[in-house]
Amino acid sequence: MNVYNPQSIIKVAHRGVPSLVPENTIASYKFALTLNIDMLEIDIHRTRDHKLVIMHDPTTERTSLEKGEIKNLAYKELQKYDIGKWKGEEFIGERIPLFDDVLHLIRNTDIKLLIEVKQPEKYPGIEEQILESLIANDINEQQIIIQSFNKKSIQKFKSLNSRIELGVLIKKKDRFISRDSIRKIGEYATFINPNYKIVTKKFVDEAHKVNMKVMPYTINDDETVRKMINLNVDGIITDYPQKIEQWLKT
Ligand code: G3P
Ligand code: CA
Repeated sequence: MNVYNPQSIIKVAHRGVPSLVPENTIASYKFALTLNIDMLEIDIHRTRDHKLVIMHDPTTERTSLEKGEIKNLAYKELQKYDIGKWKGEEFIGERIPLFDDVLHLIRNTDIKLLIEVKQPEKYPGIEEQILESLIANDINEQQIIIQSFNKKSIQKFKSLNSRIELGVLIKKKDRFISRDSIRKIGEYATFINPNYKIVTKKFVDEAHKVNMKVMPYTINDDETVRKMINLNVDGIITDYPQKIEQWLKT
């Protein structure tokens, strides 16, 4: 049996508290900040007029019920979309947040922001733009971790700013990732965050050997939390941050 301290597990609120409040909304983030969490995870895209906005999908249909692709829409048009209604009448009025809004929210808190850059290949120069926003909003770099499935983008962040912590996300289809690949990622990232279905003790051990932390996504039940803890992961990314403390105790 592993001996572990539940307090040392990094608790990550995935898109806010999406199990109770619509994902990636300011209301969801505000609620997350009232919970005992360590990090808030968000997803970034960019509008046609180059505003950084927070949404998981590249298209608006699922969460706004309006058809459209973020990269083809101006921020002013996107602002008309309601992203609360799909979850219930009580959430009507939520709008797609700007990256700046979230930075404003977490500034002066002790919560870290785990920023996932979605499809950076579609948004040339987004790396520079994100870093400029951090400076413009006077954000402490130690409060930030930037992650992506796109390794090239994360390497670019490294070349632009070697102080900010970086993470690489690993998909389920990459379950056979080699020890060498993990080591290479460890040359520029401090987090390697896999789909929980591919986590093995060997994966975690190899990541730890090159000083990377492992935070699997997205874990939404106590049994899987226990399984991950036994595999010695460092953090848990969950849609249920309101339950994670209790799950870690049991
Ligand atoms: O933080 C990792 C996780 O969010 C990656 O998957 O699809 O939920 O953005 P997805
Ligand atoms: Ca994400």
